[in-house]
Amino acid sequence: MSTITVIEQGTCEFDGQFSMLEALDEQGFDMPYSCRGGNCGACEVKLLSGQVEEIQMPAYDCDKGYILTCSVIPLTDVEIEIP
Ligand code: FES
Repeated sequence: MSTITVIEQGTCEFDGQFSMLEALDEQGFDMPYSCRGGNCGACEVKLLSGQVEEIQMPAYDCDKGYILTCSVIPLTDVEIEIP
């Protein structure tokens, strides 16, 4: 189980949900998103530390150091920041 820390919002546990976004959503975090399918880029956040794995091949191209919460799961404890 990994811990997800959202800067200025708090932390939650990732416990096998489909995506990082789903874990944050379930636990009441106010995360930006739209398509949930890797297409729009609305869920893009900065990955400050930790490692993630892609669970779907996103059409949207992230900037370096950024991730799509709808398209990844954490592999380690991670820290993210909503831009
Ligand atoms: S919600 Fe659209 S890319 Fe993640």
